[in-house]
Order: sequence, then C-alpha cells, then structure tokens
Amino acid sequence: MQAARRQHKNAKSKPLIQSEEIRGKEGSLDNMLIHGDNKAAMKNLLEQGYGGKIQMIYIDPPFFSKADYDAVVKAGDKQIRHLAYEDKWSKGMSQYLKMMASRLYLMKELLADDGLIFLHLDWHVVHYAKVIMDEIFGEKHFVNEIIWQYKSGGSSKKHFSRKHDTILVYSKSTKYKFFPLEEKSYNRQYKPYRFKGVKEYKDDLGWYTMVNMKDVWSIDMVGRTSSERTGYATQKPEALIERMISCCTEEGDLCADFFCGSGTLPVVAGRMNRKFIGCDEGGLAIESSVSRLAQAGQSFRVFDMKKEPKPKLKVDVEILEEEIYGTDKTHLRIRLKSLRERQLHKTTDGKSLETALEVLEEDALQMVHAWSIDYDYQDGIHRPDVVFVRTKGELTLEHERIIGEKKPMCIKVVDIFGNVVFERME
Ligand SMILES: C[S@@+](CC[C@H](N)C(=O)[O-])C[C@H]1O[C@@H](n2cnc3c(N)ncnc32)[C@H](O)[C@@H]1O
Repeated sequence: MQAARRQHKNAKSKPLIQSEEIRGKEGSLDNMLIHGDNKAAMKNLLEQGYGGKIQMIYIDPPFFSKADYDAVVKAGDKQIRHLAYEDKWSKGMSQYLKMMASRLYLMKELLADDGLIFLHLDWHVVHYAKVIMDEIFGEKHFVNEIIWQYKSGGSSKKHFSRKHDTILVYSKSTKYKFFPLEEKSYNRQYKPYRFKGVKEYKDDLGWYTMVNMKDVWSIDMVGRTSSERTGYATQKPEALIERMISCCTEEGDLCADFFCGSGTLPVVAGRMNRKFIGCDEGGLAIESSVSRLAQAGQSFRVFDMKKEPKPKLKVDVEILEEEIYGTDKTHLRIRLKSLRERQLHKTTDGKSLETALEVLEEDALQMVHAWSIDYDYQDGIHRPDVVFVRTKGELTLEHERIIGEKKPMCIKVVDIFGNVVFERME
C-alpha cells in the first residue's frame, strides 16, 4: 500500500508529457488535445502555469445515466458498434459526485478570474451538482441555469417526456466577461406592435423584435443525417457550443473542454478564432477530434498521457527504396500491407464482433481509418507531411516520394476504433 501510494505521488508531479504529434503550423501551439484522464491533465496544466488562464470551460461529462455509450464506426460498407465510454458507477452516486468534485476544484484553479464555466448535465444529477458548484464556486457566483430543449425519440406513459438538459453557469468572481446575445421574440399573433422607438422585423412567420437571449434554448440535436454527425454517442450540436463561446469570450481567448468526446468544443472554438484545449480519456474520442480539427484546417498539438504498453493494433508497412541513377536522390514507395487487431473486446454486441472478425478476414485494411507519414521525424514528434483519411469508404494505401538525404521517418496508423500505432524508422 505504501509503495503504491508513493508511486502515485511521483506520477502526480510528472511534467507535462511531450507532444506526440503536431498538426498544421508549429505556430499556434496553444491548441491542444490531451489523451488521458482529465484530472492528471489538469494537474499538469496547472504545473505548467495555466492557472487562471482559461477564459471559458465547458464540460459535458457522463450524466450518471448508468449506461454504456457506443460509437457507430464503419468498416467498408458494414457498421460496427464500439464502446465509446462507460457511465456506470459501482459505488453509486457518491463515487460519481466525488469524481466530479475533485475535477471541478481543478477547473476553478484553471479558470480566469473573469471567465465562465458551463457544466452540462441532465435530471439524473444536476440538482446534486448544483449544490457542489455552490460549494466550490460560491452561491453568489451562480450565473445561469440554461435549459437546452430538443426533440428526440422516446416517451413514457409514467411521466412527461424528458426532453431537456441543464447547463449550470458559474463565474469565479463578480467581474466576469459577458456579451449578451440576442434572439427573435415574436409579437402576439405575429402582428406589428408599432411601439414608438421599438424596431420590428418580419420573417415568414410574422413580426418580431430582437431581445436579449433568454435561458431556454431550443436547438436541434445532431440528427442522423446531419453533416456534423461523427457517429460518437452523445455528440453535442455545434450551435449550442457556439452560443456559450460567443457570450463570454473574444478572439484569442482560451477555451477548454475536459470531457471533449468527439471534439465539438475544440472544433467550434478553433473556427471562432479562439484557442482551445480538449481532453478525453478515450482513444476514439481523441482520434475523432483529431480528424474533425484537421479537416477544419486547425493547427494543434496532441499529447498522450495514456500510452498503452503495447499498441492495440499492429501494421505491416512495406518501404521500397530505389536510388535514382546519377543523382543523390532516392525514390521511396511506402505501402500499407496488412493490419492486425490485438483486441476487439470493445465491440458492444455479438453481431458487431462477428462483423469485425469478418472484415478482418476479408480485408483487414478496411479497419484503417487514417494514416500519415512524417518524412523528417524529429524530437519524437510526429509532424505528418501527408495524411490519408478514408473518405466514402476509399483509402489511399500507397505513397511515393523522391527524397534527398535519408532521414528518420514516422508513420502513424489509426484504426476505425481510434487505436493508434506509430511505426518509427531510422
Ligand atoms: C458526454 S461525452 C462528451 C461528448 C462531447 N461533448 C461531444 O460533443 O462529442 C463524455 C466524455 O467524457 C469522457 N470522459 C469520462 N471520464 C473522463 C475522464 N476522467 N477524463 C477524460 N475524459 C473523460 C468520455 O470518454 C466521453 O467521451
């Protein structure tokens, strides 16, 4: 017990691990994705001087729903259900609340004095969480209870249909930044009021005025056919996050989500020219965030605090080198030859496991979601020169390049479950 405790203490004071990967320009290195438990990540950020530096924190943690959440991933034309994250607590609500409280204390330390924190929950625990937030941030720093209402399937004959989530907003001081947003308020019977000095507008529904936004927000969930959809369970709509970022930050401010899932906050923050930190303990979540951010042309660093002792997949890469006669150049041909999955236990049902095994037997490379090559691998950081992502089921499996002096290379391969392997070559 003693030894274990000592080891834990040492682990706590580890400096922030080196970034694994840099995407885009080296310049905007404030943007980070951290793969690992957010408690360790936040402690590391505090050790690095991020205390009081984050202008806006949004978190959408597990809701204490006592359920498992899947991501639907595609392998060729087949779909596989894969465990995205668990929301089960063997020791009940006290275990959950303890987990949350210890993390909320760290978030308070990271939050800027004039910043806001948004805690997204639902009926399962939001009332208990409110008491904890009052305790940590202070009752007088309660700013809003936002009700996000949406349409979704399912109803009950025993109670009213539960169709809203609750977002608790707290500040750290009374001097927080807040930029009121506006919304339409339709006139009664959609007719013009013609009040003196009141500007009125008309759309297809009828006449309205613009008023300061209220605390009940009607925003559609990410639908099955939505272009935003990643397949990650509990993905939140970008429009919802955009409102929160807009009301309390300016360009250049730092926003963070320590339970970032598929990366919605980092994507929206980046698009709004804010800096971002995203953290998640799930590999699929981080790789989904990497793909979304890269697709949006963002620059960022990826840190891995959760390094697996053994990668969960193995790839066979063929590299053919041919010296070009009469020059000092070499023709390189790099090809992904095969892939082996080391564990498929996170497929959530028998059918999905069967499908995964079928795909592996037919053509294992269908399991590759993306791969990238860094032709000049330095300081242990993967800075890809070329990236291939499966689109509409198709993936380029070979790349050719003429190089001068031979340098160390690094090839990163990501499977459809978010498992990653780096192949380094001297
Ligand atoms: C509700 S989902 C977030 C969804 C996200 N808002 C989105 O739009 O995709 C909650 C996430 O919290 C992550 N998570 C749970 N406990 C964590 C922990 N201790 N550290 C880091 N991430 C955690 C899960 O892996 C999951 O991806």
